[in-house]
Amino acid sequence: MREWIGAEVLHLGAEAEVVSGTWFGRPAVMKKRRPRGWRHPDLDRRLTSKRMVNEVKLTIQLARLGAPVPAIWDVDIEDSVIIMEKIDSTPLIDVLREKDFDDNLLISVGKSIRELHRNAVCHGDLSTNNILINLNNEPVIIDLGLATRQYDVEGFGIDLHVLHEIFRASHPEVKDAMDLVLKGYSELDKEIGQPEEAPGGMPPTADEVIKRLGQIMTRVRYHGG
Ligand SMILES: Nc1ncnc2c1ncn2[C@@H]1O[C@H](COP(=O)(O)OP(=O)(O)O)[C@@H](O)[C@H]1O
Ligand SMILES: [Mg+2]
Repeated sequence: MREWIGAEVLHLGAEAEVVSGTWFGRPAVMKKRRPRGWRHPDLDRRLTSKRMVNEVKLTIQLARLGAPVPAIWDVDIEDSVIIMEKIDSTPLIDVLREKDFDDNLLISVGKSIRELHRNAVCHGDLSTNNILINLNNEPVIIDLGLATRQYDVEGFGIDLHVLHEIFRASHPEVKDAMDLVLKGYSELDKEIGQPEEAPGGMPPTADEVIKRLGQIMTRVRYHGG
């Protein structure tokens, strides 16, 4: 990828390395999946490319539908590399730690999650690292390697439950975080109407998902999972 000029490593995780740089002169990031030593190389390559193709496909579909995700600019499946728009941003985890936000931020986080769900995409790893807050205080959702197209309410409920658990574990001082997220989550449908049918079926309503979140929480409390 000659158009790519790398500058700085932003993130070195177990699964991926993210480097900032430019692509045709525009601010970009390169996400490169790292081989996992403990897996058989063939299996590793297959899993890696499966997750990458999944991430690319769903991110592009969501972008086309106007949901808040980065634009994908280039992909190399062989080398497991994605080049995408760089979001000038702070991850939600740091915004919450720095306490530099107001209620509207968490309400708009809820709306952005609902946008994914309205388009029948279940994130699958909805942590405060995977929600970036851009310079206009708007959430952008990244890291869709484990995302699925989903019409069953359970997956959406689990997305919200994962975020709720992370709020409780990592940000206990932000007392009403989940209430604000759920407020935004249900407000979006009131603002723009019920979701339309997506390819494959009808996504559940916000009320159905929030009700399911309540059931999941009860289940976890009594049975531990
Ligand atoms: N498009 C992007 N713009 C700006 N920062 C990004 C972008 N994509 C990823 N990052 C940064 O890199 C980190 C890791 O990226 P992510 O896709 O979540 O990788 P992983 O699969 O290892 O979690 C993010 O938490 C974020 O800080
Ligand atoms: Mg991530």
